Parts: sequence; C-alpha cells; structure tokens
Amino acid sequence: MLDVKRKIHPLLSEHRATIDRQRWTFVPAAETREILAGLAVSQAAMDEIGVLSDLLRSDPTLPFRAASNGRFCTDFGTRQAYRTEDQLFVLTAEEDFHRFDSGQLRVFDPLEARLCANAAFQGLLTINAFILATLKPRHRPLLDYTSDQWITTVFDLRTITTPELIGEPALEGVHSDGVDLSMTTFLSRNNMRRDSGITDVHEMAQVNGVRWDEIDPQYRVGTAQHWETLDILIVVDHEKKHSVSPLWAEDPTQRATRDVLTFFSRKPTVEGHVSYDHDSRLPHESLPCQVDVSIVRDPWCT
Ligand SMILES: [Fe+2]
Repeated sequence: MLDVKRKIHPLLSEHRATIDRQRWTFVPAAETREILAGLAVSQAAMDEIGVLSDLLRSDPTLPFRAASNGRFCTDFGTRQAYRTEDQLFVLTAEEDFHRFDSGQLRVFDPLEARLCANAAFQGLLTINAFILATLKPRHRPLLDYTSDQWITTVFDLRTITTPELIGEPALEGVHSDGVDLSMTTFLSRNNMRRDSGITDVHEMAQVNGVRWDEIDPQYRVGTAQHWETLDILIVVDHEKKHSVSPLWAEDPTQRATRDVLTFFSRKPTVEGHVSYDHDSRLPHESLPCQVDVSIVRDPWCT
C-alpha cells in the first residue's frame, strides 16, 4: 500500500498546466520517477512494473499483440479509485476509432492482480486522478459530465514483431480512443529499433485512419517517443488525435516487443451510448484494488 506521507510533486502540477494550455504533454521517465517517489513509491516498485507483462497471452482481434485489461472507477465523491468488475469493451467509428474491429464487442483477459498490487501502478492511478480532477474536456456525446466519477479502462499491451509479421501499436492510423483522457505509460522494450513506436499528436482536422507516414504535417502539433520505462504521454483525447509508427526489430531475424500500459478515462455513459451496458461500477469481487486519491484535492468536491 502507498505510504500516507505522499505529496504531489511540482513537476506534476507543471504538466497539468501544460495539458490545460496545449491539451497534451509528455512526461519523461526521470520526471515520472520523481513524481512517483513523491507519492512514496519505491524505486523497486518502479523497476518491477517494467517487467510485469510477460504473462500476457493473446489479443481478441490482433495477431501481433498480447493484451489484458481492467476497469477502474475514480470516484471524487469518496476520493477512491477502485477496480470494477470485468466488462466487455467496444470502440466505434463514431468515437474516431476506424479499424476492422470497430464496433465489435471484445473480451480481454483480466489485468494481472500483481500489476494492480504494484505501488507504481497505484501511483499511476493517482497521477491519472490528479489530471482528471480539474480536466474540462470538450464534451463527447452521451457521457455524463455532471458525474463526480470517471471510468478508466487500463490496457496492458504488448506489441510483437516477428520475421513474418510487423507489429503495429496503432494499426488504425490517426485516431482517438473514444475517451476524455488517454495516458500511455511505457513499460519495456526488447529488440526495438530506435525509430519505432513514435507517436505524432494531431489537430482534430487531421483525417482519421490515415497511416502514420501519410499524415498532413500542417496538423501535427507534437511528436513523442516512449523509450524508457515510465515515459508517459497524456492526451486530451477528444481535442487531439494521434498516430504511432510500427515496431521494427533492431535484429530483424529475432522477435521484438514493446510493452505499454494505457489508461483510457471518460465520464460514465448515459443510455444510448454503445458502452452503456458495459459500464458497471460494481467493485471487482475476486480481484479487488482500491487506491486512496484524496491527495488530489479535487476542487469540485471540497
Ligand atoms: Fe490510441
């Protein structure tokens, strides 16, 4: 569990101010480590989170990926972030997600209990809550912006490249992820070529579905690369789109992997939203996880 003597590092406040201003930010791993240390997370826990993805097995639709997910509710009423029961996952073209499996209900393996128990993971949930606490995003349809709760889907994702198949961190090309905030944290890499997994951030005028190498540069507002464990990219998802270059192997005769944790956060859905039937806020019974986020001091609930 996290120590009670936690504090929000000024670096995190600076990044929140950057998000307020430009709607995205990149937090280098060295800064993430300082922020997590301020939240009383040990260096050992920060190192351990980088190597927890080896048990990932498969993905419901993508042959070059292994994945699991878990759902969390950040409740600023109770000032707790807790894991909810496992639910189906769906993203649609209407949410700016254009891929062959758009609109398909997907079932992922549940997020590993040992990942949720890791103090760095719980610290990342706290960082996510700190950004959400004051976020005023452009509204998506059929989400309840009067709620003091946020729904976060966490994906543990391994992209895999082999001599036969190139892994694509974002096969869908330019896209948004159907949420209000996306926070992507780098875990680890193996045999990853230096020009792999580079994320471009785009204005909303950039057409969806365009490949990473066919984007219109006039709409590109930034570029970032996840390379070190705990590099974080945060994007206000309905105000900026993104695209990611493929995973190329440094040694093309060998397998390459790229592991990330994504935190996709949005307000709860209302009736009529495609995810309305998959938005339970009941706690997970067999894999409970609860994090006190009162340190965030949300101005909306003081
Ligand atoms: Fe994405």
